[in-house]
Amino acid sequence: MKIAIIGTGRVGLVTGACFAEKGHQVICIDNNLQKIDQLKKGKVPFYEPGLQELVSRNCRKKRLIFSSHIKDAVNFSEIIFITVGTPLTENGAADLSDIESVCYEIAQCLKILPKDKLGYRLIVEKSTVPVETGEKIKNLIKKYAPQANFEVASNPEFLQEGCAIKTTLYPDRIIVGVESKQAESIMRQLYASFQAPLVITDIKSAELIKHASNSFLAMKISFINAIARICDLVKADVTEVARGMGLDHRIGQEFLKAGIGYGGSCLPKDIAAFSYISRQLGYQFELLNKVQEINNTQIDYFIDKIKKELRHLKDKVLALWGLSFKPNTDDIRESPAIKIALRLIKEGAKLKVYDPKAMKEARTILGKSVRYAKSAYEAVRKVEALVIATDWEEFRQINLLRVKKLMLHPLIFDGRNIFDPKTMKELGYTYHCIGRP
Ligand code: UGA
Repeated sequence: MKIAIIGTGRVGLVTGACFAEKGHQVICIDNNLQKIDQLKKGKVPFYEPGLQELVSRNCRKKRLIFSSHIKDAVNFSEIIFITVGTPLTENGAADLSDIESVCYEIAQCLKILPKDKLGYRLIVEKSTVPVETGEKIKNLIKKYAPQANFEVASNPEFLQEGCAIKTTLYPDRIIVGVESKQAESIMRQLYASFQAPLVITDIKSAELIKHASNSFLAMKISFINAIARICDLVKADVTEVARGMGLDHRIGQEFLKAGIGYGGSCLPKDIAAFSYISRQLGYQFELLNKVQEINNTQIDYFIDKIKKELRHLKDKVLALWGLSFKPNTDDIRESPAIKIALRLIKEGAKLKVYDPKAMKEARTILGKSVRYAKSAYEAVRKVEALVIATDWEEFRQINLLRVKKLMLHPLIFDGRNIFDPKTMKELGYTYHCIGRP
């Protein structure tokens, strides 16, 4: 099938490349000319495992092409996905202005379709949007192109950065919100080769499934972080509590890792936007507000642990391992690690930072306020303590004896609970983590 993806960010590019991998003809559009130029040369502008190879392969096979013109998308394809960003406005609402301008442009192109390209178009919202955005998209396009032959559908994405290809090609489920049999049949055909339950529903329910799912995941994380604080009070082990809870299949093991809270470009934004839209619709979603409150204070909680042990941080030289918001990505948007770095700097600490992939990105925020180490070992040389903020596999595999020799004091604050406290004690470390004695 011929598919257009408007918005070639992390979601758009992964989605486009995966559809191409499945044999569809895909055109990815972005108004960032530099990005499109890079992609035309076959270069992926960010780090996501396996994506560079996937994009190169599908470009070579001519199933994946790029353009900066929405006209090319509308002329080329029957299915047009919108995957532009929906950042937060200051009051916590989702900013739909990029979606609106894309819709305006689509409408303009629909009005002047060349004769040989006339026909039905399915406009699919994939960006995470508040419920009833599908309705807005429909009305907007109708307003500017009243004669256009189109429908709107919702097909929220559930990919996870760091394993985006796997979670796109092998999703737990595919959600499709449609208004007609024709739209349903197109979406069924599009996903025919995917081995996942296909949930066909109405557009508003599809939109709500996305916000509800991300909120539920965030709630699990905040829940276990609250339990971790209780564990700290009574010297119990939150990883044991999570394991015991998670064995109940109704609860499940995943998203019960206590730490320094959730970050990234999705959960923090989506939970705030869902709370906002609920309020607008007449329901105060207090539970979500609490989820956010626990998350927002989790970093304070961790910093307090560091301050309690070191007393003050002024001029103390500390290593910080991890800058990305989670492992296997260079994405630092809403990264708890960056927030920790900024807090430690504010308290007067001198930081030596290291991340396997996110150093370049981190420089855009941390600038010259920290020293950048070339390796995890270099970061810990002659530091008073090590702070761990992202659970990269590289850190789990580190030679802890070598690290100990390099540090001034064997003192670790682990915000991601990556080591076993017993082993750390045996190795002679003073080891502080979250919710474990
Ligand atoms: C999240 C959802 O998991 C995806 O299903 C969704 O498609 C995506 O948002 C989106 O809306 O686009 P992502 O932002 O890639 O995916 O990251 P997650 O894997 O959800 O992790 C979010 C944050 O929670 C990270 O900072 C991670 O370290 C933290 N986390 C995760 C925990 O602190 N504990 C856990 O047990 C799990």
